[in-house]
Amino acid sequence: MPYHQVLVIGGGLAGLRAAIEAADKGADVAILSLVYPVRSHSGAAQGGVNAALANAEDGKDDTTDKHAFDTVKGSDYLADQDAVEIMAREAPARIIEMEHWGCPFSRTKEGKIAQRPFGGGAFPRTCYASDKTGHYMLHTLFEQVLKRQIKVYSEWASSYLIVQDGAVCGVVALHMPTGQIEAFQAGAVIMATGGYGRVYAKSTNALINTGYGMAMAYLAGAPLEDMEFVQFHPTSLYGTNILITEGARGEGGLLFNAKGERFMQKYAPTAMELAPRDMVARAIQTEINEGRGFENAYVHLDLKHLGRQKILERLPGIRDITVSFAGIDPIDSPIPILPGQHYSMGGIATNVWGEAELPGLFAAGECACVSVHGANRLGGNSLLDTILFGKRAGERAAQVVKGKAKSANETIFKGAVEKAQQAYAGLVRGNGKEDPGQIRDEMRLAMFELVGIFREQGQVTQAIAKIGELQERYKKLRACYGGKVFNWDLVRSFELGGQLQVAEVIARGALSRQESRGSHFRRDYPTRDDKNWLKHTLAYYSPGGPSFKYKPVTINRWQPEARKY
Ligand code: FUM
Repeated sequence: MPYHQVLVIGGGLAGLRAAIEAADKGADVAILSLVYPVRSHSGAAQGGVNAALANAEDGKDDTTDKHAFDTVKGSDYLADQDAVEIMAREAPARIIEMEHWGCPFSRTKEGKIAQRPFGGGAFPRTCYASDKTGHYMLHTLFEQVLKRQIKVYSEWASSYLIVQDGAVCGVVALHMPTGQIEAFQAGAVIMATGGYGRVYAKSTNALINTGYGMAMAYLAGAPLEDMEFVQFHPTSLYGTNILITEGARGEGGLLFNAKGERFMQKYAPTAMELAPRDMVARAIQTEINEGRGFENAYVHLDLKHLGRQKILERLPGIRDITVSFAGIDPIDSPIPILPGQHYSMGGIATNVWGEAELPGLFAAGECACVSVHGANRLGGNSLLDTILFGKRAGERAAQVVKGKAKSANETIFKGAVEKAQQAYAGLVRGNGKEDPGQIRDEMRLAMFELVGIFREQGQVTQAIAKIGELQERYKKLRACYGGKVFNWDLVRSFELGGQLQVAEVIARGALSRQESRGSHFRRDYPTRDDKNWLKHTLAYYSPGGPSFKYKPVTINRWQPEARKY
């Protein structure tokens, strides 16, 4: 059985950065990833990564304090301010480190890292590499992994965490190319498995973003935090929901409804198109719902006035996407866009060192909730979160495993392998009639329509009933294909059970929170209620459904006030 002091689950930015740090701190570390690391969803990040470098001509007065304040205000005051201050303070060092490792950031005329405006930021603070920032960062970090000869187990689908005496000590996983199921023993496990976008319909996320990593931690006993806060990106391409970066608005793109109105004037008269995401997404959806959208389905993002040269230089990926997937060239025509599910503010509850409540378990990146994003993340803070809190998790994990003895109890690992073998074999032997693809589609639609941008008690209650029905139907699946080689049908069907758990936590959290804050907008409770709800939600697994606890928000410097943009 393979053993590593630190085992990182996930080969995206957070996982790679955690592994690099753990290795640099002397730990024997390995990465176990569902896909070859450079195929991770981090590579789809487009617009950029925030740090108060003050490089832009109109950004000279930017400071790390202002970055922290914008983040707290953007979060609708739910972010923990100690964590936000760490993030803002350490951001410049993380970006310069990426630059020194060879990340090809776009440049100012003086040769400094270029920065563009993003929503909710007082200054142009978002460092970028044209509109493929995640792709370049991912390749940069993977080079560092290769340089250190860190062991990578590629194309392993993690199935369960292994827990012994209340502490996580490994993981059991299925090898996609062969179907072999094996246990991996570890002194510490760092979850870096990304978000749950595919629990929702109309998501900007890759198909691999099922949220199953969050489910693994939850089922093992770690609480999930603030899961009711789901981010909808304002601009996804009509028809496919592929991300159209906020950088397009940062470069000057404008939003118009079918009446030709620049409607953001009504919703955020100062920040306009560069208001935070929750506000812009709600504004667009309101225009569509109230009949001012095109074909009652989308609005226009207009880049034409930017001119050919700027579009080709700053937004070449967006042009490729719109030409290839919508047959529209943004140099000549506006882009049809609508909000799409994009990001999870919630995740595995951790402290600022990535430590979860369960000993031996760490988390970083989108699957974690530190919490630096609170009720609404600012664009550009997610890539930052991955490399910054990934590094911190790697550092602490390396400390924790120092001198820790390897468990001698092999029975527990054998038992874990048998449990996974039985679960997969059970799916292959299924004798029910239910199609997992159908259950998945119904779950995704119910979540989008009933626990979406706007919510209210009746709808969310309906979603919870639907999820309950789907959980029952999941017990009666038809036989899955039993092939051993790259059997995605089997793995997706297996993960669906965890996705339904995640969906239930989101919906029940949304029902409980009787206020509107950031991305969580309750039509029946349309205002923020700091007296009763300035607190984090913690969801613990129990067989009858999640049980909830609450914990206070860390408010050090900035008292909650009304959010105006
Ligand atoms: O719009 C974007 O490029 C996405 C950035 C982000 O989610 O941080």
